Amino acid sequence: MAADTDDAARWAAELGDDQAPAGAEPPRSRFAWCVTGSGHYLEESLALAARLPRVDLFLSAAADEVLPFYGLKVEALRERFRVFLDKSASAVPVGRLYAQAYHTVVIAPATSNTVAKCAFGLSDTLPTNMFAQAGKLGVPGLVFACDTEPVVVTKAPRTHDTDWLTLRPRIIELENVARLRAIDFCEVLTTPDELEAALDARLKTLQLAWNTSSS
Ligand SMILES: Cc1cc2nc3c(=O)[nH]c(=O)nc-3n(C[C@H](O)[C@H](O)[C@H](O)COP(=O)(O)O)c2cc1C
Repeated sequence: MAADTDDAARWAAELGDDQAPAGAEPPRSRFAWCVTGSGHYLEESLALAARLPRVDLFLSAAADEVLPFYGLKVEALRERFRVFLDKSASAVPVGRLYAQAYHTVVIAPATSNTVAKCAFGLSDTLPTNMFAQAGKLGVPGLVFACDTEPVVVTKAPRTHDTDWLTLRPRIIELENVARLRAIDFCEVLTTPDELEAALDARLKTLQLAWNTSSS
């Protein structure tokens, strides 16, 4: 039986769940923070995550690819957070939600792609699975949807000659944000200030506090 358990743990680790068992900590004691492949507000989102107590990061495959375009590395994130990568079709680390590890699921920043999937109930990436399963368990979700204004000025990847890019989200992107607002157990935020205020409210509800240092 123990050998079976060891085999299952090894298999889960290969598929992206490579941290200590969720049951090793008090229930609902951590933030699950999902990062998607968005350059827009990537650094601002991670800066907020770093100020929170007990945060695990869940990266989409696209997030893993996009980070280096903005001078960020998964290895550096691992110094501050536990990091789960999207290595399985079935989103294996989502099992931690069922083990009651998390009190809140955040997606920040959320790409147009992830917003659309969440709005229509699709779950085929680690962040969209975390969001959908959190909703089914009644765990509150906060989604920082970045394509929310008619004109969006966003930081260009380091491979570009220019520092900033101007994008005009289509009606479909704006409609998907509106759709997402109607999903249960979900709050949609559209600026870093709104996200910070929502996190602050969540901390107060949980009787927790922001970190006083970044260490
Ligand atoms: C450098 C770079 C920056 C990107 N920034 C954004 C962005 O700000 N917003 C967005 O919606 N998609 C952006 N994308 C495209 C997404 O990464 C792509 O749609 C991806 O499929 C999203 O997958 P995910 O939602 O599972 O993370 C960017 C792609 C690259 C290569």
